[in-house]
Amino acid sequence: MDTIIEPFRIKSVEPIRLTTREERTALIQDAHYNLFNLDGDDVIIDLLTDSGTAAMSAAQWGGLMQGDESYAGSSSYYRFERAVQDLMPFEHVIPTHQGRAAERILMGIVADENAIIPNNTHFDTTRANIEATGADAVDLVIAEGRDPANLHPFKGNMDVDRLRALLDEDASRIPLVMLTVTNNSGGGQPVSLSNIKAVKAICDAYDTPLFMDACRFAENAYFIKMREDGYADWSVSDIVREMFAYTDGMTMSAKKDALVNIGGWLALNDDIWAEEARNQLILTEGFPTYGGLAGRDLEAIAQGLKEIVREDYLAYRMASTRYLGEALTDLGVPVVQPIGGHAVYVDADALLPHLPPLQYPGQSLAVALYLTGGIRGCEIGSVMFGRQPDGSEKPASMELVRLAIPRRVYTQSHVDYVIECFEDIVERADTLPGYAITHEPKRLRHFTAHFEPIAS
Ligand code: F0G
Repeated sequence: MDTIIEPFRIKSVEPIRLTTREERTALIQDAHYNLFNLDGDDVIIDLLTDSGTAAMSAAQWGGLMQGDESYAGSSSYYRFERAVQDLMPFEHVIPTHQGRAAERILMGIVADENAIIPNNTHFDTTRANIEATGADAVDLVIAEGRDPANLHPFKGNMDVDRLRALLDEDASRIPLVMLTVTNNSGGGQPVSLSNIKAVKAICDAYDTPLFMDACRFAENAYFIKMREDGYADWSVSDIVREMFAYTDGMTMSAKKDALVNIGGWLALNDDIWAEEARNQLILTEGFPTYGGLAGRDLEAIAQGLKEIVREDYLAYRMASTRYLGEALTDLGVPVVQPIGGHAVYVDADALLPHLPPLQYPGQSLAVALYLTGGIRGCEIGSVMFGRQPDGSEKPASMELVRLAIPRRVYTQSHVDYVIECFEDIVERADTLPGYAITHEPKRLRHFTAHFEPIAS
Protein backbone atom coordinates (compact mmCIF):
# COMPACT_ATOMS: atom_id res chain seq x y z
CA MET A 1 0.00 0.00 0.00
CA ASP A 2 1.18 3.55 -0.73
CA THR A 3 -0.71 5.24 2.11
CA ILE A 4 1.59 5.85 5.06
CA ILE A 5 -0.57 5.65 8.17
CA GLU A 6 0.07 6.84 11.72
CA PRO A 7 1.63 3.72 13.27
CA PHE A 8 -0.47 4.12 16.43
CA ARG A 9 -4.06 4.34 17.61
CA ILE A 10 -5.33 7.19 19.79
CA LYS A 11 -6.38 6.16 23.29
CA SER A 12 -6.69 9.50 25.03
CA VAL A 13 -7.85 12.81 23.52
CA GLU A 14 -7.81 16.50 24.42
CA PRO A 15 -10.60 18.83 23.25
CA ILE A 16 -9.70 21.83 21.07
CA ARG A 17 -11.61 25.07 21.74
CA LEU A 18 -12.73 26.60 18.46
CA THR A 19 -12.49 30.41 18.47
CA THR A 20 -13.93 32.94 16.00
CA ARG A 21 -11.88 35.42 14.01
CA GLU A 22 -13.44 38.21 16.05
CA GLU A 23 -12.32 36.61 19.32
CA ARG A 24 -8.83 36.07 17.92
CA THR A 25 -8.56 39.72 16.84
CA ALA A 26 -9.04 40.79 20.46
CA LEU A 27 -6.87 38.01 21.88
CA ILE A 28 -3.83 38.77 19.71
CA GLN A 29 -4.12 42.49 20.43
CA ASP A 30 -4.19 41.74 24.18
CA ALA A 31 -1.11 39.54 23.62
CA HIS A 32 0.71 42.56 22.08
CA TYR A 33 0.89 40.60 18.81
CA ASN A 34 3.33 38.15 20.42
CA LEU A 35 2.12 34.57 19.99
CA PHE A 36 4.07 33.46 23.06
CA ASN A 37 1.66 35.61 25.11
CA LEU A 38 -1.42 33.67 24.01
CA ASP A 39 -3.06 31.09 26.25
CA GLY A 40 -2.83 27.57 24.83
CA ASP A 41 -6.63 27.33 25.09
CA ASP A 42 -6.96 30.20 22.62
CA VAL A 43 -5.01 28.31 19.94
CA ILE A 44 -6.71 25.85 17.57
CA ILE A 45 -3.66 24.18 16.00
CA ASP A 46 -0.48 24.75 17.99
CA LEU A 47 2.61 24.54 15.80
CA LEU A 48 4.67 26.82 18.04
CA THR A 49 7.08 24.03 18.85
CA ASP A 50 7.73 20.33 18.63
CA SER A 51 9.38 20.59 22.06
CA GLY A 52 7.72 18.94 25.03
CA THR A 53 4.49 18.64 23.04
CA ALA A 54 4.68 14.96 22.06
CA ALA A 55 1.97 12.45 22.90
CA MET A 56 3.53 9.79 25.09
CA SER A 57 2.83 6.13 24.44
CA ALA A 58 0.94 3.76 26.72
CA ALA A 59 4.31 2.18 27.55
CA GLN A 60 5.70 5.55 28.59
CA TRP A 61 2.67 6.35 30.76
CA GLY A 62 3.05 2.88 32.27
CA GLY A 63 6.71 3.66 32.92
CA LEU A 64 5.71 6.69 34.98
CA MET A 65 4.24 4.32 37.58
CA GLN A 66 7.55 2.45 37.79
CA GLY A 67 9.60 5.55 38.65
CA ASP A 68 12.01 5.03 41.52
CA GLU A 69 12.05 8.32 43.38
CA SER A 70 15.10 7.54 45.54
CA TYR A 71 17.13 10.70 46.04
CA ALA A 72 20.36 8.87 45.27
CA GLY A 73 21.00 5.77 43.15
CA SER A 74 17.48 5.51 41.70
CA SER A 75 17.02 2.43 39.54
CA SER A 76 15.20 4.68 37.05
CA TYR A 77 18.44 6.61 36.59
CA TYR A 78 20.28 3.42 35.65
CA ARG A 79 17.58 2.44 33.18
CA PHE A 80 17.81 5.95 31.69
CA GLU A 81 21.61 5.78 31.57
CA ARG A 82 21.52 2.39 29.82
CA ALA A 83 18.99 3.62 27.25
CA VAL A 84 21.15 6.68 26.48
CA GLN A 85 24.39 4.73 26.33
CA ASP A 86 22.84 2.10 24.07
CA LEU A 87 22.61 4.80 21.39
CA MET A 88 25.21 7.33 22.54
CA PRO A 89 28.06 5.55 24.25
CA PHE A 90 29.44 8.38 26.41
CA GLU A 91 31.13 7.71 29.76
CA HIS A 92 29.13 10.24 31.74
CA VAL A 93 25.39 10.85 31.41
CA ILE A 94 24.11 13.77 33.47
CA PRO A 95 20.34 14.35 33.56
CA THR A 96 19.02 17.91 33.44
CA HIS A 97 15.51 19.34 33.45
CA GLN A 98 15.80 20.32 29.79
CA GLY A 99 18.31 21.03 27.05
CA ARG A 100 19.19 24.58 28.00
CA ALA A 101 20.19 23.49 31.51
CA ALA A 102 22.73 21.14 29.91
CA GLU A 103 23.91 24.01 27.71
CA ARG A 104 24.26 26.38 30.66
CA ILE A 105 26.25 23.88 32.68
CA LEU A 106 28.54 23.02 29.75
CA MET A 107 29.12 26.65 28.75
CA GLY A 108 29.73 27.62 32.38
CA ILE A 109 32.63 25.16 32.37
CA VAL A 110 34.21 25.78 28.97
CA ALA A 111 33.39 29.35 27.91
CA ASP A 112 34.44 32.83 29.06
CA GLU A 113 34.70 36.28 27.49
CA ASN A 114 37.71 35.16 25.47
CA ALA A 115 36.07 32.07 23.98
CA ILE A 116 34.55 31.39 20.57
CA ILE A 117 32.09 28.51 20.07
CA PRO A 118 31.44 27.52 16.44
CA ASN A 119 28.33 25.57 15.41
CA ASN A 120 26.52 24.94 12.13
CA THR A 121 23.79 27.23 13.50
CA HIS A 122 23.34 27.87 17.20
CA PHE A 123 19.81 27.50 18.50
CA ASP A 124 18.61 30.62 20.36
CA THR A 125 19.11 29.20 23.88
CA THR A 126 22.55 27.83 22.97
CA ARG A 127 23.58 31.20 21.57
CA ALA A 128 22.18 32.99 24.63
CA ASN A 129 23.95 30.64 27.07
CA ILE A 130 27.23 31.19 25.23
CA GLU A 131 26.80 34.96 25.05
CA ALA A 132 25.85 35.05 28.73
CA THR A 133 29.44 33.93 29.53
CA GLY A 134 30.80 36.74 27.33
CA ALA A 135 31.90 34.30 24.61
CA ASP A 136 31.18 34.62 20.89
CA ALA A 137 28.77 32.17 19.22
CA VAL A 138 29.69 31.73 15.55
CA ASP A 139 27.50 30.08 12.88
CA LEU A 140 29.41 28.24 10.14
CA VAL A 141 26.71 26.43 8.17
CA ILE A 142 27.47 25.83 4.47
CA ALA A 143 26.33 28.58 2.07
CA GLU A 144 23.59 26.29 0.65
CA GLY A 145 22.12 26.14 4.17
CA ARG A 146 21.33 29.86 4.04
CA ASP A 147 19.54 29.67 0.68
CA PRO A 148 15.91 28.59 1.33
CA ALA A 149 15.34 27.27 -2.22
CA ASN A 150 18.55 25.25 -2.51
CA LEU A 151 17.92 21.48 -2.70
CA HIS A 152 21.22 20.28 -1.16
CA PRO A 153 20.34 17.08 0.78
CA PHE A 154 22.38 18.04 3.87
CA LYS A 155 21.91 21.77 4.30
CA GLY A 156 22.81 21.48 8.00
CA ASN A 157 26.42 20.64 7.14
CA MET A 158 29.17 22.76 8.59
CA ASP A 159 31.44 24.71 6.24
CA VAL A 160 34.64 22.82 6.98
CA ASP A 161 36.88 25.38 5.26
CA ARG A 162 35.58 28.17 7.45
CA LEU A 163 35.91 25.96 10.52
CA ARG A 164 39.52 25.14 9.61
CA ALA A 165 40.29 28.82 9.01
CA LEU A 166 38.79 29.78 12.38
CA LEU A 167 40.74 27.08 14.21
CA ASP A 168 43.91 28.05 12.33
CA GLU A 169 43.57 31.61 13.52
CA ASP A 170 42.23 31.14 17.02
CA ALA A 171 42.30 27.48 18.19
CA SER A 172 43.35 28.49 21.71
CA ARG A 173 40.08 30.45 22.07
CA ILE A 174 37.88 27.55 20.93
CA PRO A 175 37.19 25.14 23.82
CA LEU A 176 34.87 22.99 21.71
CA VAL A 177 33.03 22.85 18.40
CA MET A 178 29.31 22.07 18.22
CA LEU A 179 27.10 20.53 15.55
CA THR A 180 23.32 20.85 15.84
CA VAL A 181 21.37 17.88 14.45
CA THR A 182 19.10 18.58 12.79
CA ASN A 183 19.93 22.23 12.23
CA ASN A 184 16.80 23.74 13.76
CA SER A 185 17.50 27.45 13.21
CA GLY A 186 18.52 26.70 9.63
CA GLY A 187 15.30 24.97 8.54
CA GLY A 188 15.53 21.61 10.36
CA GLN A 189 18.10 20.42 7.85
CA PRO A 190 20.26 17.35 8.49
CA VAL A 191 24.01 16.95 8.80
CA SER A 192 25.59 14.10 6.83
CA LEU A 193 27.83 11.47 8.35
CA SER A 194 30.60 12.47 5.98
CA ASN A 195 30.35 16.05 7.29
CA ILE A 196 30.39 14.83 10.91
CA LYS A 197 33.55 12.83 10.11
CA ALA A 198 35.18 15.78 8.32
CA VAL A 199 34.41 18.14 11.22
CA LYS A 200 35.78 15.61 13.68
CA ALA A 201 39.01 15.23 11.67
CA ILE A 202 39.56 19.00 11.76
CA CYS A 203 38.75 19.13 15.48
CA ASP A 204 41.24 16.31 16.11
CA ALA A 205 43.96 18.17 14.22
CA TYR A 206 43.57 21.03 16.72
CA ASP A 207 42.90 18.79 19.72
CA THR A 208 39.46 20.37 20.11
CA PRO A 209 36.47 18.32 21.28
CA LEU A 210 33.32 18.03 19.15
CA PHE A 211 29.93 18.18 20.89
CA MET A 212 26.58 17.46 19.33
CA ASP A 213 23.45 19.49 20.11
CA ALA A 214 21.47 16.35 19.51
CA CYS A 215 17.77 17.23 20.08
CA ARG A 216 16.59 15.66 16.80
CA PHE A 217 19.20 12.93 16.40
CA ALA A 218 16.76 10.25 15.19
CA GLU A 219 15.32 12.45 12.45
CA ASN A 220 18.89 13.29 11.39
CA ALA A 221 19.79 9.60 11.30
CA TYR A 222 16.72 8.81 9.19
CA PHE A 223 17.71 11.50 6.69
CA ILE A 224 21.16 9.89 6.48
CA LYS A 225 19.54 6.52 5.80
CA MET A 226 17.35 8.03 3.07
CA ARG A 227 19.83 10.38 1.43
CA GLU A 228 23.47 9.48 2.07
CA ASP A 229 25.26 6.91 -0.06
CA GLY A 230 26.09 3.71 1.78
CA TYR A 231 23.55 3.86 4.64
CA ALA A 232 20.30 2.64 3.05
CA ASP A 233 20.72 -0.82 4.59
CA TRP A 234 21.81 0.36 8.02
CA SER A 235 19.34 0.38 10.92
CA VAL A 236 18.57 3.85 12.30
CA SER A 237 20.03 2.79 15.67
CA ASP A 238 23.32 1.87 14.04
CA ILE A 239 23.42 5.18 12.18
CA VAL A 240 22.79 6.99 15.47
CA ARG A 241 25.69 5.10 17.09
CA GLU A 242 27.89 5.96 14.13
CA MET A 243 26.98 9.68 14.40
CA PHE A 244 27.97 9.79 18.05
CA ALA A 245 31.12 7.70 17.55
CA TYR A 246 32.76 10.83 16.12
CA THR A 247 31.88 13.12 19.00
CA ASP A 248 33.15 13.78 22.51
CA GLY A 249 29.91 14.82 24.10
CA MET A 250 26.36 16.03 23.61
CA THR A 251 23.68 18.29 24.98
CA MET A 252 20.16 16.98 24.64
CA SER A 253 16.63 18.20 25.00
CA ALA A 254 14.62 15.03 25.64
CA LYS A 255 11.54 17.13 24.80
CA LYS A 256 12.20 16.41 21.13
CA ASP A 257 13.60 13.03 20.08
CA ALA A 258 13.09 11.29 23.41
CA LEU A 259 9.32 11.75 23.10
CA VAL A 260 8.73 13.24 26.54
CA ASN A 261 7.26 16.45 27.90
CA ILE A 262 10.24 17.44 30.02
CA GLY A 263 13.89 16.42 30.36
CA GLY A 264 17.36 16.60 28.94
CA TRP A 265 20.93 15.58 29.55
CA LEU A 266 24.58 16.41 29.13
CA ALA A 267 26.76 13.45 28.17
CA LEU A 268 30.52 13.48 27.69
CA ASN A 269 33.72 11.50 27.99
CA ASP A 270 36.02 13.99 29.72
CA ASP A 271 36.29 13.05 33.44
CA ILE A 272 37.33 16.50 34.62
CA TRP A 273 34.58 18.37 32.80
CA ALA A 274 32.10 15.72 33.98
CA GLU A 275 33.09 16.26 37.61
CA GLU A 276 32.70 20.02 37.26
CA ALA A 277 29.36 19.50 35.52
CA ARG A 278 28.08 17.30 38.35
CA ASN A 279 29.14 19.91 40.90
CA GLN A 280 27.22 22.54 38.96
CA LEU A 281 24.29 20.15 38.60
CA ILE A 282 24.02 19.71 42.36
CA LEU A 283 24.00 23.48 42.78
CA THR A 284 21.10 24.21 40.44
CA GLU A 285 19.45 21.00 39.17
CA GLY A 286 19.81 18.17 41.67
CA PHE A 287 21.81 15.11 42.69
CA PRO A 288 23.56 13.42 39.72
CA THR A 289 21.21 10.43 39.60
CA TYR A 290 18.14 12.60 38.99
CA GLY A 291 19.38 16.03 37.89
CA GLY A 292 16.38 18.24 37.36
CA LEU A 293 13.98 15.33 36.92
CA ALA A 294 11.81 12.90 38.83
CA GLY A 295 12.57 9.17 38.59
CA ARG A 296 9.37 8.75 36.58
CA ASP A 297 10.58 11.26 33.99
CA LEU A 298 13.76 9.21 33.55
CA GLU A 299 11.60 6.10 32.93
CA ALA A 300 9.61 7.91 30.24
CA ILE A 301 12.83 9.02 28.52
CA ALA A 302 14.28 5.49 28.61
CA GLN A 303 11.15 4.15 26.89
CA GLY A 304 10.96 7.13 24.48
CA LEU A 305 14.48 6.43 23.25
CA LYS A 306 13.41 2.93 22.26
CA GLU A 307 10.37 4.23 20.36
CA ILE A 308 12.04 7.13 18.56
CA VAL A 309 14.40 4.97 16.49
CA ARG A 310 11.59 2.77 15.16
CA GLU A 311 11.56 3.06 11.41
CA ASP A 312 7.77 2.86 11.02
CA TYR A 313 7.52 5.88 13.32
CA LEU A 314 10.22 7.81 11.47
CA ALA A 315 8.73 7.01 8.04
CA TYR A 316 5.36 8.37 9.22
CA ARG A 317 6.99 11.37 10.91
CA MET A 318 8.88 12.44 7.79
CA ALA A 319 5.88 11.77 5.51
CA SER A 320 3.55 13.89 7.62
CA THR A 321 5.92 16.87 7.68
CA ARG A 322 6.54 16.49 3.95
CA TYR A 323 2.76 16.37 3.32
CA LEU A 324 2.35 19.89 4.74
CA GLY A 325 5.48 21.20 3.00
CA GLU A 326 4.49 19.86 -0.40
CA ALA A 327 0.92 21.14 -0.14
CA LEU A 328 2.19 24.64 0.70
CA THR A 329 4.65 24.48 -2.19
CA ASP A 330 1.78 23.55 -4.53
CA LEU A 331 -0.10 26.64 -3.30
CA GLY A 332 2.89 28.78 -4.26
CA VAL A 333 3.94 29.40 -0.64
CA PRO A 334 7.74 29.54 -0.60
CA VAL A 335 9.07 27.08 1.99
CA VAL A 336 12.60 26.05 2.91
CA GLN A 337 13.56 23.12 0.70
CA PRO A 338 14.02 20.23 1.10
CA ILE A 339 11.30 19.86 3.76
CA GLY A 340 12.84 19.38 7.23
CA GLY A 341 12.04 16.61 9.69
CA HIS A 342 10.22 18.35 12.53
CA ALA A 343 8.83 21.43 10.86
CA VAL A 344 7.97 23.30 7.70
CA TYR A 345 9.69 26.67 7.47
CA VAL A 346 7.86 29.27 5.42
CA ASP A 347 10.09 31.86 3.74
CA ALA A 348 8.23 34.98 4.86
CA ASP A 349 10.72 37.24 3.10
CA ALA A 350 9.73 35.72 -0.25
CA LEU A 351 6.01 35.56 0.56
CA LEU A 352 5.86 39.19 1.79
CA PRO A 353 8.44 41.00 -0.37
CA HIS A 354 6.78 44.35 0.39
CA LEU A 355 8.05 44.18 4.01
CA PRO A 356 11.69 45.02 4.86
CA PRO A 357 13.38 42.60 7.34
CA LEU A 358 13.19 45.05 10.23
CA GLN A 359 9.42 45.29 9.81
CA TYR A 360 9.53 41.59 10.64
CA PRO A 361 7.77 39.76 7.77
CA GLY A 362 7.91 36.51 9.79
CA GLN A 363 6.02 38.11 12.67
CA SER A 364 3.49 39.52 10.22
CA LEU A 365 2.82 36.09 8.72
CA ALA A 366 2.67 34.44 12.15
CA VAL A 367 0.03 36.94 13.32
CA ALA A 368 -1.94 36.47 10.06
CA LEU A 369 -1.98 32.70 10.58
CA TYR A 370 -3.38 33.15 14.06
CA LEU A 371 -6.04 35.62 12.94
CA THR A 372 -7.06 33.46 9.98
CA GLY A 373 -7.26 30.06 11.62
CA GLY A 374 -6.07 30.17 15.23
CA ILE A 375 -2.81 28.58 14.12
CA ARG A 376 0.25 29.35 16.20
CA GLY A 377 3.64 29.21 14.46
CA CYS A 378 6.93 30.76 15.44
CA GLU A 379 8.98 33.54 13.82
CA ILE A 380 12.59 32.52 13.25
CA GLY A 381 14.10 35.64 11.75
CA SER A 382 15.00 39.17 12.72
CA VAL A 383 12.77 39.17 15.80
CA MET A 384 14.59 36.11 17.15
CA PHE A 385 18.10 36.91 15.96
CA GLY A 386 18.16 40.60 14.94
CA ARG A 387 19.15 42.11 18.26
CA GLN A 388 22.95 42.15 18.70
CA PRO A 389 24.73 41.82 22.08
CA ASP A 390 25.56 45.57 21.91
CA GLY A 391 21.85 46.44 21.55
CA SER A 392 22.01 47.32 17.83
CA GLU A 393 19.82 45.60 15.21
CA LYS A 394 20.84 43.66 12.13
CA PRO A 395 18.57 41.62 9.82
CA ALA A 396 18.83 37.85 10.33
CA SER A 397 20.07 35.72 7.43
CA MET A 398 16.53 34.42 6.75
CA GLU A 399 12.99 35.53 7.69
CA LEU A 400 11.17 32.30 8.45
CA VAL A 401 7.98 31.17 10.13
CA ARG A 402 8.34 27.71 11.55
CA LEU A 403 5.35 25.39 11.63
CA ALA A 404 6.66 22.75 14.03
CA ILE A 405 4.81 19.46 14.13
CA PRO A 406 4.33 18.01 17.62
CA ARG A 407 5.15 14.29 17.65
CA ARG A 408 2.16 11.91 17.37
CA VAL A 409 -0.36 14.69 18.12
CA TYR A 410 -2.15 15.98 15.01
CA THR A 411 -3.86 13.98 12.28
CA GLN A 412 -4.03 14.63 8.55
CA SER A 413 -7.28 16.64 8.79
CA HIS A 414 -5.65 19.05 11.24
CA VAL A 415 -2.95 19.56 8.66
CA ASP A 416 -5.52 19.98 5.85
CA TYR A 417 -7.08 22.80 7.90
CA VAL A 418 -3.68 24.53 8.13
CA ILE A 419 -3.29 24.22 4.35
CA GLU A 420 -6.73 25.80 3.82
CA CYS A 421 -5.76 28.77 6.01
CA PHE A 422 -2.68 29.32 3.85
CA GLU A 423 -4.85 29.27 0.74
CA ASP A 424 -6.73 32.23 2.20
CA ILE A 425 -3.57 34.12 3.23
CA VAL A 426 -1.74 33.71 -0.08
CA GLU A 427 -4.46 35.68 -1.87
CA ARG A 428 -3.99 38.74 0.32
CA ALA A 429 -0.31 38.38 1.25
CA ASP A 430 0.54 41.82 -0.18
CA THR A 431 -1.86 43.50 2.27
CA LEU A 432 -0.28 42.11 5.47
CA PRO A 433 1.21 44.87 7.64
CA GLY A 434 4.74 45.24 8.95
CA TYR A 435 5.34 45.34 12.72
CA ALA A 436 7.34 47.53 15.08
CA ILE A 437 8.72 46.39 18.44
CA THR A 438 7.41 48.62 21.22
CA HIS A 439 9.02 46.85 24.18
CA GLU A 440 11.84 44.27 24.44
CA PRO A 441 14.18 42.64 26.97
CA LYS A 442 17.96 42.43 26.40
CA ARG A 443 18.16 38.72 25.60
CA LEU A 444 15.84 36.20 23.90
CA ARG A 445 13.49 39.06 23.09
CA HIS A 446 11.13 37.01 20.94
CA PHE A 447 9.58 35.40 24.02
CA THR A 448 8.35 38.61 25.63
CA ALA A 449 8.63 41.51 23.15
CA HIS A 450 5.55 43.63 22.42
CA PHE A 451 4.62 44.56 18.83
CA GLU A 452 2.33 47.00 17.02
CA PRO A 453 1.21 46.73 13.40
CA ILE A 454 2.58 49.59 11.27
CA ALA A 455 -0.27 51.48 9.56
CA SER A 456 0.27 51.63 5.82
N1 F0G B 1 18.99 23.02 20.92
C1 F0G B 1 18.10 22.98 19.93
C2 F0G B 1 18.56 22.68 18.53
C3 F0G B 1 16.75 23.19 20.19
O1 F0G B 1 15.87 23.13 19.20
C4 F0G B 1 16.34 23.47 21.53
C5 F0G B 1 14.96 23.75 21.84
C6 F0G B 1 17.30 23.50 22.53
C7 F0G B 1 18.62 23.26 22.19
C8 F0G B 1 16.96 23.77 23.97
O2 F0G B 1 16.26 22.74 24.54
O3 F0G B 1 14.02 23.70 25.12
O4 F0G B 1 14.85 21.62 26.21
O5 F0G B 1 15.85 23.79 26.77
N2 F0G B 1 14.12 24.02 20.96
C9 F0G B 1 12.70 24.27 21.13
C10 F0G B 1 12.12 24.68 19.82
C11 F0G B 1 12.34 25.17 22.27
O6 F0G B 1 10.96 25.12 19.82
O7 F0G B 1 12.77 24.51 18.78
P1 F0G B 1 15.19 22.98 25.71
